[in-house]
Amino acid sequence: MAQNQDSAEINVLVLVGSLRAASINRQLADLAVESAPDGVTLQIFDRLGELPHYNEDIDTEDVAEPVQALRAAAAVAGAALVVTPEYNGSIPGVLKNAIDWLSRPWGNGALKDKPVAVIGTALGGYGGVWAHDETRKSFGIAGPRVIEDLKLSIPSKTLDGKHPRETAEVAANVREVVEKLAAEVS
Ligand SMILES: Cc1cc2nc3c(=O)[nH]c(=O)nc-3n(C[C@H](O)[C@H](O)[C@H](O)COP(=O)(O)O)c2cc1C
Repeated sequence: MAQNQDSAEINVLVLVGSLRAASINRQLADLAVESAPDGVTLQIFDRLGELPHYNEDIDTEDVAEPVQALRAAAAVAGAALVVTPEYNGSIPGVLKNAIDWLSRPWGNGALKDKPVAVIGTALGGYGGVWAHDETRKSFGIAGPRVIEDLKLSIPSKTLDGKHPRETAEVAANVREVVEKLAAEVS
């Protein structure tokens, strides 16, 4: 479903790949929400931990309510922003599971053809770039239009234990990603 044409507001679905209460990626997602320019609203989908493991047998008309909620949030969004750490060199399972749910119905998922950007932070010196690249690859297969050149992989050490909003360069880079992603919404 396309974004609601009655509204001039651009809605961006935000998916966070860490469920941890003190997640730095969640803080980065909060910063993205705060960075939204006029006319753009970012909404974090807080319920990735409630999704069942993807299973075609339960992907039916009465699919679990958290899946319905995720797909409904994706349907009213014009774009999606993924904010994720790297787990063991790859995508955290909770995020990959969400991608799998959003990839169905195959060829007609709720984010089909919508722009998606992937950013995040991880402990390693490359800031989680493997996870970010693989998230772009997976979402690219799942149906959305991945914006390949919107990249931000932040080694968490550079944040010096502070909230990401306290590092001016990070705040500016996040704002730029949000603005460029919103500009991709047709
Ligand atoms: C299960 C697990 C696997 C991890 N694997 C990696 C990794 O492959 N690369 C990396 O840079 N950091 C890795 N880390 C460290 C995370 O980058 C770090 O804990 C990060 O802060 C997690 O994101 P969060 O603060 O948003 O929860 C891993 C952490 C966990 C818990």
